[in-house]
Amino acid sequence: MCGIVGYIGKEQAAPILLDGLSRLEYRGYDSAGIAVCTAGGFLQVAKSKGRLQVLSDKIGGGEDVRGTIGIGHTRWATHGEPNDVNSHPHLSQDEKIAVIHNGIIENYVEIKEFLIAEGVRFVSETDTEVVAQLLAFYYNECGDFFEAVGRVLRRIEGAYALGMMCADHPDMIITARKDAPLLLGFGDGANYIASDATALLPYTRDVVYMEDGEIAVLTRESITIYNAMQQVIEKEHSHIDWEVSAAEKGGYAHFMFKEIMEQPEALRKAISPRLRGGRIVFDDVSLTARQLRHIERIYIVACGSSYHVGMVGKYNLERLMRKSVEVCLASEFRYSDPLVDDKTLVIVISQSGETLDTMAALREAKSLGARVLSIVNVVGSSIARESDDVLYTYAGPEIAVATTKAYSTQLAVLNMLGLYFADMLGSVSKEEYEAIVKGLEALPTQVEETLASCEDIQKFAASYFNHDSVFFIGRNLDYTLGLEGSLKLKEISYIHSEAYASGELKHGTISLIEQGTLVIALGTYGALFDKAMSNVVEVKSRGADVLALTTQSHRAEMEKTVENVLVVPDTHPVLQPSLGVVPLQLFAYYVALHRGCDIDKPRNLAKSVTVE
Ligand code: F6R
Repeated sequence: MCGIVGYIGKEQAAPILLDGLSRLEYRGYDSAGIAVCTAGGFLQVAKSKGRLQVLSDKIGGGEDVRGTIGIGHTRWATHGEPNDVNSHPHLSQDEKIAVIHNGIIENYVEIKEFLIAEGVRFVSETDTEVVAQLLAFYYNECGDFFEAVGRVLRRIEGAYALGMMCADHPDMIITARKDAPLLLGFGDGANYIASDATALLPYTRDVVYMEDGEIAVLTRESITIYNAMQQVIEKEHSHIDWEVSAAEKGGYAHFMFKEIMEQPEALRKAISPRLRGGRIVFDDVSLTARQLRHIERIYIVACGSSYHVGMVGKYNLERLMRKSVEVCLASEFRYSDPLVDDKTLVIVISQSGETLDTMAALREAKSLGARVLSIVNVVGSSIARESDDVLYTYAGPEIAVATTKAYSTQLAVLNMLGLYFADMLGSVSKEEYEAIVKGLEALPTQVEETLASCEDIQKFAASYFNHDSVFFIGRNLDYTLGLEGSLKLKEISYIHSEAYASGELKHGTISLIEQGTLVIALGTYGALFDKAMSNVVEVKSRGADVLALTTQSHRAEMEKTVENVLVVPDTHPVLQPSLGVVPLQLFAYYVALHRGCDIDKPRNLAKSVTVE
C-alpha cells in the first residue's frame, strides 16, 4: 500500500526521499512523488505514474529539486486512477501547502463540496487533495499552520497518516496519524517521518511510533509530539535492530528467493531463545495457567497466509490443548457478531502488524472483553502495541509481497505456543512434549536440508509452468498446507489454483479433473497417508497429472503410484507443515520465474494491506 517518507535536515532532501521511497517500493504502488521546500519558501513538486525510477529520472536522481526539507510518497490508487495528477504530494490552490497521505478520507465529498462553494478549484480526483485545500483554507483563516492542522483533523473522518508542509514555514513538517502506520525517526541535526521503519534503516534506528490522534512537529533540531488535545507528550523511543542488508537483495535475483533461503536462520531466531533446557519458555507471555484455565473459547484471527498459519494452528492447538479453537478470517470476524467475552482468548497473527482488517478484528475482540495475544513480525507495529501479549517472530524485514519466512516463523511460534499452553493445562504427555521440542530443535537444520535439495523442484516447475489450473489436495494438516501452497502459486504466477480437502473431492470438485489436469497431492501427514493415497488413485484414474509431496518414510509407497514426487524429511506430525511448505514456496517461485512474472511485486497486490 502507499508509502510515506519525510526529511528535514541539512542535506539535500530529494535524494534521501527517493532512497527512502525505494525502500518502500516492496509495499506496492502505482505512482510516486516528492515535494521539497526551497530555501526561498517555494514548494517544488515532482510526481509521476509508474515506477519510482521514472520519477528519479525526471529529476536527475533528485539533483534538480533543491532544498533540505521534503516529503515523498508512493501511491496505491484508491480514489482516482493512477496518473501524474492523482499522485501525491497534493498542493493547495495557492501552492502554499503540500500534503502526502496514506489511508482514506471518508467524508471528502462533503468537504470538497464545501470548498468548491468557497471558490476552491480542485485538479485531482483524490480524497487527499481535499486535505491540502482544507488546510490552506484554515491556514488563510487563522494564519497559524499548527492550528490549521488541528482544525483539519477535527473536520476530516477516516484513516490517515499525513505529512504536511507549508511554504511559509520552510523549517517544519507536521505529521498526524489515525488508523494508518506512521513513525518518527530521530537523527543528528535531521529528523524523519516514515510509514515503515524500512525506509529509515540507513539513516536512523531511533524511532517513535505514533498513536492514533497524535500530531508531531518536526524541525531540524527537535520533534515535538502532541496528543489529540494538543498537549505536549513524551513518548518512549524504540530501537530498530534490523540490518540494512536484510532489506536489500544481496546478490539474489528476487527478495522472495532470498527470503525463502533465509528461513533456517529466521527459524533459529524465532525458536532458540524460547527453548531452554528442553522446555519452552515464553518470557513475553503474561497469561497465567489460572487465566488460561478460565478461557472457554479460543479464536485465531488473521488474513491471507497468516490465516493459513491459523488453520494449521487450529488442528495442532486442538490436538495438544484439547480445547476448541475457531479460525476466522479477520475481514469476516468483526462482522459476524463473534461469541467473544472475557473468557475468550483471541490469537491474532500478522507479519506487518498493520493489516487493517486484522487490526479492526483485534479492536472488536478487545471491546468485547477478550484477551488478545498477537504473533507479529514488525516490532512496534499497531497490532503489537494494542495486544495484551505479543510474541515477535524475529524474521527480519520481509520485502517480497508473497510471504515465506514470516509464514514459517509464525507457524513455529504458534506451534510452540500451543505446546506451551498444553503443558500449562496438563493436556500433553511428557513423551509428546519432548518429541515436539526435539522436532523444534531440529527444524532449522531440516529446512536447510530441504532447501538444499531443490533441483527436482526446478525440473517440475519447468514442465508444469504452462498449466492454467492447479488443484492442491490433502487431508488434515496437508489440507492446510495446500491452502498456503495454492495461495503462493496463484499470487505470484497468476495460475488459477485451488486447495481442497481430499475428502471433499467427490462432493463436487472431482468433476473438474480431466485428462492432464495438474493435481498437487500432499501426503506428508502420516496418520492419513493411506487415505491420501486413495484420493491420488481417484484423480489419477480420471486422467490427472499428479505431482506428489511426501516424507522420506512414505517416499517408496508414494513412488509406487506417482512418478513425480517431492520429498521432505520426517518430523513430529504437528511440525510437518513447516517442512512441507518449503518445496511449495520454491515450486511457486520457479513457476513464476518461468512465466516471466514480477515475482516480488505481483500485480494488484500490496505487502501491507492498510485499507479494508
Ligand atoms: C500472501 C501474503 C498475504 C498476507 C496477508 C496478511 O503471501 O503475504 O496473504 O499474509 O495480507 O498480512 P499480515 O500477515 O501482514 O497481516
